[in-house]
Amino acid sequence: MEIVLTKNSKIKNVDFENLEFGKIFTDHLFVCKYSNNNWGTGKIMPYDNFLISPSARVFHYGQAIFEGMKCYRSDNDSLILFRPDENFKRFNKSSTRMAIPEIPKNIFFDGLTELLKIDKDWVKKGDGNALYLRPFVFASEPSINASEAIEYTFMIICCPAKSYYGNQKIKVKIEEKYSRAAKGGVGYAKAAGNYAAQFYPTSIAKEEGYQQIIWTDSNNHKSIEEAGTMNLFFRIGDKLITSPTSDSILDGITRKSIIKLAKDSKIHVEERIITVDELMNAQNKGELMEIFGTGTAVVILPIKTFGYQKNDFNLPDLKNPWSLMLKKKLNDIQYDRSAEYENWKLKIS
Ligand code: COI
Repeated sequence: MEIVLTKNSKIKNVDFENLEFGKIFTDHLFVCKYSNNNWGTGKIMPYDNFLISPSARVFHYGQAIFEGMKCYRSDNDSLILFRPDENFKRFNKSSTRMAIPEIPKNIFFDGLTELLKIDKDWVKKGDGNALYLRPFVFASEPSINASEAIEYTFMIICCPAKSYYGNQKIKVKIEEKYSRAAKGGVGYAKAAGNYAAQFYPTSIAKEEGYQQIIWTDSNNHKSIEEAGTMNLFFRIGDKLITSPTSDSILDGITRKSIIKLAKDSKIHVEERIITVDELMNAQNKGELMEIFGTGTAVVILPIKTFGYQKNDFNLPDLKNPWSLMLKKKLNDIQYDRSAEYENWKLKIS
């Protein structure tokens, strides 16, 4: 791998206590190009703008996918990537759906680990701190022919992050008009366009005072899917319910980790379809105790209020919510305070 280091590190100008998610990037990036049916040699270089043709297919047809993953610094200064194998598998699953060639495992992992070794000082200690890694691939071939490209660019960029919404609890709206994903579509892939398609309905929800949308199925808006940047969990009575993954729901890595940790804690977990009717019924009977979202960027995010058909419903303020208990268990693994689930940690040395 070719490595070109920056002569001007930006790190001293960064206020790590006040980070807005996704705005500040580390000193270096990893890049690898695909052409002539082959991935080339990867390169680490200073983070900077780059040249790309206006006719690159990604601008016209949105052929691009990405991943989100985090690296944590433990109390004794080890760097830990959380379940990167899962991100790698999902990266290629998303690529396949978007007709993008799979990236070989060695390129993905060599890029990640070398970049982390070089930009290690950007991974800060302490709860909530992490380095968010964004591997992505896009159709860089100059052509506006409406078919898959024959040239691609794979990159990894990194940004220091605190949790996505800080410590606030959020307000979400159950959506009944717009849809995020359709059966047989690309909802399960981390396709760039899945996110763009949410911006307009989410901006309407924001004007109404909500931060995110709870998406429902595109056929009749009856069953609950996910919340766009997170999967959803519902505590009804003594059960924890989450929608099953499908072709319209993202197979979240935090989601599957929380299911495992909840089961370990003897919580009864059900992965099954949950309808808006069931949710409203539980709410009316006083059985709906918690709703929380899970995702790499948000980790575990409790929901304070949900809106449905122009009415708002508040969740009870619990003393010992499952969301907090599960978040602590997850953080203990991610920051290497717990010796459990060693196979979820890739230590960078
Ligand atoms: C992540 O949690 O990594 C996501 O993909 C959400 C992102 C769009 C901010």
